[in-house]
Amino acid sequence: MKIAFVGGGNMGEAMLSAILDKKLSQPQDISVSDVSEARRQFLAQKYGVLTTSDNRQAIAGRDVVVLSIKPQNLAEVMTGLSGQLKPSQLVLSIIAGATIITLHNGLKHNRIVRAMPNTPAQIGEGISVWTATDAVTKKQRGWASSILGAIGKEIYVADEDYINMATAVSGSGPAYFFLFVEVLVAAAMRIGLPRDMAQELVLQTMLGSGHLIRKSGKEPAELRRMVTSPGGTTAEALLQLEKGGFANLVARAVRGAYDKARQLGEARK
Ligand SMILES: NC(=O)c1ccc[n+]([C@@H]2O[C@H](COP(=O)([O-])OP(=O)(O)OC[C@H]3O[C@@H](n4cnc5c(N)ncnc54)[C@H](OP(=O)(O)O)[C@@H]3O)[C@@H](O)[C@H]2O)c1
Repeated sequence: MKIAFVGGGNMGEAMLSAILDKKLSQPQDISVSDVSEARRQFLAQKYGVLTTSDNRQAIAGRDVVVLSIKPQNLAEVMTGLSGQLKPSQLVLSIIAGATIITLHNGLKHNRIVRAMPNTPAQIGEGISVWTATDAVTKKQRGWASSILGAIGKEIYVADEDYINMATAVSGSGPAYFFLFVEVLVAAAMRIGLPRDMAQELVLQTMLGSGHLIRKSGKEPAELRRMVTSPGGTTAEALLQLEKGGFANLVARAVRGAYDKARQLGEARK
C-alpha cells in the first residue's frame, strides 16, 4: 500500500510507525509532507520515509492519502489539494470535526473515510471509529480497517453522527481518565501519601481495573458491587461521589463534548 501523510505530527507519526511495524507498507512506500523542516528531517531519519514540504508532491501516485494536520490548517491544505487527487485515491481523514461534506466539497473528491482515533494510538492501544462514503470500494475499506487497526481497535459505523458521539467518548475520553488520575493522586496526597506512591497506586489501580473489566467478562456495575461491602470504606467513598452528582456530571461532560463536536462540524461546512 502506498500511503501519503499530509501532516507528520503526533498522530501522523503514530500511524506511520504502526504501519511500518505491522509491515502494511515499506518505508519507501510512505511519503510525508509537513511544513516543519525539523519534523521532516526527524521522520526521514527515524523511519526512512520520503518527506517533502509539498503536499501535492506527497500525494502523487499514492493509494491512500491520510489527512493528519490540525483542524485549523485544513482549509489551506484543501485549497492546495482541491482537484489534485485522482478519483481512485482514498482520502483518510483523522481531523477532528472535519465532516465528510466539508472534505468532499473542499477537495472535490468522492472516496473519503472519516475516522476519529485517540491518543493511546501512539502506543498501539487506541480505538478509532470510522465511516466511509459510498464511493469507497470494499478493498479501500479493507485498507482503512488495517491502517486504523495498526494503531489499536477500530469500529466501522454507517452513520457519520456516531463519529461525533465517539469524539465525545473515546476521542476526548483519554483526557477524562487523565483528569481522574490527576485528582485521585491529589486526593491521595491530601490524606498523606507521598506523590510517587500515590501515582503508582492510582496508575496500577486504573490499569488493573481496566484489565479486570475486560478479562472477567463481568459488567462494571457487578465488579463495583463486589468491592463494595455494606457500611465499608468503598461504600463511603461511593456515597460521597453520588452526593456530589458524579454520574450526572459525567453525563453533562459527554453531552457538552458531543454538542461541541456537532457545532464544530457545522461551523466548518
Ligand atoms: N492527538 C489525538 O489524540 C487526536 C485524536 C483524534 C484526532 N486527532 C486529529 O489528528 C489531527 C492531527 O493531530 P496531531 O496531534 O497529530 O497534530 P500535530 O502534532 O500538530 O500534527 C500536525 C502536523 O501537520 C503540520 N502542518 C501544519 N500545517 C501543514 C500544512 N499546511 N501542510 C502540511 N503539514 C502541515 C504541523 O506542523 P507545525 O506543527 O509546524 O504547524 C504538524 O507537524 C488533528 O486534526 C486532530 O484533530 C488527534
